[in-house]
Amino acid sequence: MKLNFRVSLLFVLSVFSIARESGAVLPDLCDGHNLFMFFKDRKDWVSARDDCILRGGRLALINSAETHDAIKTHIRNIDELWNAAGGGYWFGLNDRDNEGTYVFEGSAGVELTYHDGWCSEKVGRRIVNQPNNNTAKNPDGQDCAQLWRNNKKKPKYDFDDAYCDNRKGYICEIVNSQDCGSGNLG
Ligand SMILES: *[C@@H]1O[C@H](CO)[C@@H](O)[C@H](O)[C@H]1NC(C)=O
Repeated sequence: MKLNFRVSLLFVLSVFSIARESGAVLPDLCDGHNLFMFFKDRKDWVSARDDCILRGGRLALINSAETHDAIKTHIRNIDELWNAAGGGYWFGLNDRDNEGTYVFEGSAGVELTYHDGWCSEKVGRRIVNQPNNNTAKNPDGQDCAQLWRNNKKKPKYDFDDAYCDNRKGYICEIVNSQDCGSGNLG
């Protein structure tokens, strides 16, 4: 109860009209100091990362249930975001440099500590846990993480490793953004 109250206080939905160079203007999410921006124009992971850098940010760092839940709720509550382009949104998590070691780009090597974010699904009788480094469509495996819609009718948006050259929507994060209302509460 106490936690829920804190979460709802922190994650105030903000609907800034920030000009976007491309694509529609979609509602942002603000956690009191960092601003999360959502994009539905499809890009591969590297292009998405570069676009976030151009905007003065990084691909989103999602390393807690609190941040993950706030982003999932935001996506599910907003019609334009609900159905991700390419079936998911790229964020900063990847193991491109070091197989099996998941870090967040643009964070000086912050490693994943929130492992509950990974998707776990039932396929027939089997439970498939992500990341599975699927090599079916690319022998190099999967090194970039998305928030995966997974189920069209009941979108999930849990973590899934995917092929970095797939083209998807993406989430940028502007750390300590001036557009984040009450400023830096951290
Ligand atoms: C993913 O698959 C690639 C290609 O088989 C392999 O080189 C790599 O070590 C695998 N990564 C992990 C974490 O198992």
